[in-house]
Amino acid sequence: MTVREILKMGDARLLRVAQPVTAFDTDELHLLITDMLDTMHAANGAGLAAPQIGVDLQLVIFGSGEFNPRYPDAPVVPRTVLINPVLTPLADAQGVLAEEEGWEGCLSVPGLRGVVPRYQRLRYQGMDQFGDPIDRSVEGFHARVVQHECDHLMGVLYPMRVRDFSRFGYTSVLFPGLDAAQDD
Ligand code: NI
Repeated sequence: MTVREILKMGDARLLRVAQPVTAFDTDELHLLITDMLDTMHAANGAGLAAPQIGVDLQLVIFGSGEFNPRYPDAPVVPRTVLINPVLTPLADAQGVLAEEEGWEGCLSVPGLRGVVPRYQRLRYQGMDQFGDPIDRSVEGFHARVVQHECDHLMGVLYPMRVRDFSRFGYTSVLFPGLDAAQDD
């Protein structure tokens, strides 16, 4: 098991537009994903993007499949490896691309949380590590996690999407009930 160093906001490598993955089901790709899973689990993260460990590729992992102490109220999201993703916001029955607000944190922005608007419903397409296609339509927390992780592939960190800075701050102040050991 190899837990890799997670880059923190301010590192220019987090601001790059990532390159597409061109070779699937390779030893190199499987090793990278194993390291990313180990790193995400060690940090109790809900997701991790390759640029966060300094790898300039369009590859994200997310989901827990189980209870996550950093997001105790979050619904379970299936554990997913998503490569070369394409995101399409989905309109509701009235034809509206609805947004909803929600609290986010990021392993590259430790100790902070903020309210970020995201599309409520979303279709995402891409490949898994074997080159098999993924095509899902999701909503709510699942859609939020995907948007957060895929933002990393465009060099966007969630504080760049915060609109109301009265709801952006230190986790220990905003949510004093959370165990400090579970703080990011
Ligand atoms: Ni993040």
